[in-house]
Amino acid sequence: MKNTVATFKAAKGRMKLSMLTAYDYSTAKIAEEAGINAVLVGDSLGMVMLGYPDTLRVTLDDMIHHCAAVARACQNTLVVCDMPFMSYHSGVLDAVKNGGRLVQEGRAQAVKLEGGRDFVQEIASLVRAQIPVMGHLGLTPQSVNAFGGFKVQGKSQAAAQAILDDARAVQDAGAFALVLEGIPRLLGEKISAELEIPTIGIGAGEKCDGQVLVWQDMFGLSDRQPKFVKRFANGGEIMLNAFKQYDQEVKNGQFPGISQSYVVECEEDIIKAIK
Ligand code: KIV
Repeated sequence: MKNTVATFKAAKGRMKLSMLTAYDYSTAKIAEEAGINAVLVGDSLGMVMLGYPDTLRVTLDDMIHHCAAVARACQNTLVVCDMPFMSYHSGVLDAVKNGGRLVQEGRAQAVKLEGGRDFVQEIASLVRAQIPVMGHLGLTPQSVNAFGGFKVQGKSQAAAQAILDDARAVQDAGAFALVLEGIPRLLGEKISAELEIPTIGIGAGEKCDGQVLVWQDMFGLSDRQPKFVKRFANGGEIMLNAFKQYDQEVKNGQFPGISQSYVVECEEDIIKAIK
């Protein structure tokens, strides 16, 4: 099935949506083969691919570079690319120009941006420019300094109301879907029931219309283990064992064997003849 912004909207109430991050061609190819509905080229790449402590140093060029690699692997999987910190905060012109680069150079089919009522003009301008937008509310990582850390959001009545109001505003501005991150599960349920567009949860409970995870987290490749992550495999251990075995076999001469070597007819004669 070909996943598009239209199939995402149509899935609401009919089918749960799966989304995983991907930052490179090989991983995106596996996500596509697995039938994942959408891959997110998240600015989390700053942490899991580049080793930064947060997402704030990720540039538009970083996003374009990784998104183009991911897009080359995806025929049926919707490719959504994050707008990094400061690529849309200065106004609608920058938002459209930078969102346009993610589509033209990164081959993204939609962009995701963090923020609610403060960014409805940017969302509406992108949508007007025919760039589909996925919203992102709750524990929005680009606000780590404003939040004073990576903290669950929407815990008080006022904070929960603000997130619900933001969600309505993002929908009204034209977003086709909304990521809800790091909020109490009943708030995730309430927002999902209120909106007409699908919600994609990450630490927002089971009643969201879909779920997204950072692939290194669910595959057991990252050090961090937030409460909302389920490890579907111990990929770190699989890689470590393979790397250790390779190291040993190289050092003890077991690798490469004859089956990994090129053998040609009359090779010994040829070797003898060359000077
Ligand atoms: O950057 C990212 O990977 C994200 C997800 C955590 C939703 O925004």
